[in-house]
Amino acid sequence: MSRRGFVLAGGAGTRLYPATLAVSKQLLPVYDKPMVYYPVTTLMQAGVREVLVISTPRDLPAFRELLGTGEAWGMRFEFAVQERPEGIAQAFLIGAGFLADHPAALVLGDNLFHGHGLAGMLRAAHERADEASVFGYQVSDPERYGVVAFDEAGRATSIEEKPAEPRSRYAVTGLYFYPAGVAEEARRLRPSQRGELEITDLNLAYLRQGRLRVELLGQGMAWLDTGTHESYLQASNYVETLEARQGVKIGCPEEVAFRNGWIGAEQLARLADGMRGSGYGRYLLGLVER
Ligand code: DAU
Repeated sequence: MSRRGFVLAGGAGTRLYPATLAVSKQLLPVYDKPMVYYPVTTLMQAGVREVLVISTPRDLPAFRELLGTGEAWGMRFEFAVQERPEGIAQAFLIGAGFLADHPAALVLGDNLFHGHGLAGMLRAAHERADEASVFGYQVSDPERYGVVAFDEAGRATSIEEKPAEPRSRYAVTGLYFYPAGVAEEARRLRPSQRGELEITDLNLAYLRQGRLRVELLGQGMAWLDTGTHESYLQASNYVETLEARQGVKIGCPEEVAFRNGWIGAEQLARLADGMRGSGYGRYLLGLVER
């Protein structure tokens, strides 16, 4: 059964004030395209075509304007409001109707993934319909994240949200695959001390059931953070450096739609034509002509 995607793009973005006083963080550009293009592209690389975009009452209209119905990319977008940032796992309560009895993939609207072999890992997670999958990434500051620890055989033994004393250096990234029934699992959660329905608690439920797979993203992969002014600029610099050097775009939904066979050359040319004044548009045009 087809998997339904969720992009969670709400929150107040207070750590980027004043840049986000009037604009959603996930709509700020990371170098040459809106931040939300990157997580949307990640879902597309996994093979997910139907996506619910969740944001604040203030910002949702702008996401609707940017992304539209999804038809232009051979996708389907729906939109839903999260009234208050009451936790990442709340996405499945908000989107229970959209999800119905499909498996789900959730990505945070400010998470940027890139690297060799990533698409294959995403596809594999997508195809494991009966298991949840999350991704671990080694970081220097695990106490800022959900942290997963392993036993000697490499099996995940614990996941803790922002532990003062992390048991490993592996952060759980903001990309989660769940089997059908995840909305029911989310309904059983209770708010944490910080008042949120924690995605870590949802992952723990699957871990306890023996239905959680933790895949490690190797050092050749990038999981970039846009949580502070510094890391936001670093993400932009990363994208600019690689794109300039390789002549290939990162987080380009039109390209992935084309390569997935979801749109044809004519449609790609139409999309490119609308943006021919920018390097991005000319890049798309180049894909058509190649
Ligand atoms: O980035 C990965 C980390 O994301 C994980 O390692 C943690 O386990 C997970 O809890 C989360 O950590 P944070 O608590 O630092 O996430 P933050 O509150 O910054 O929210 C992440 C993004 O999701 C942010 O862009 C805002 C959005 N969000 C968050 C919440 C809680 C919403 O749209 N709605 C929400 O209710």
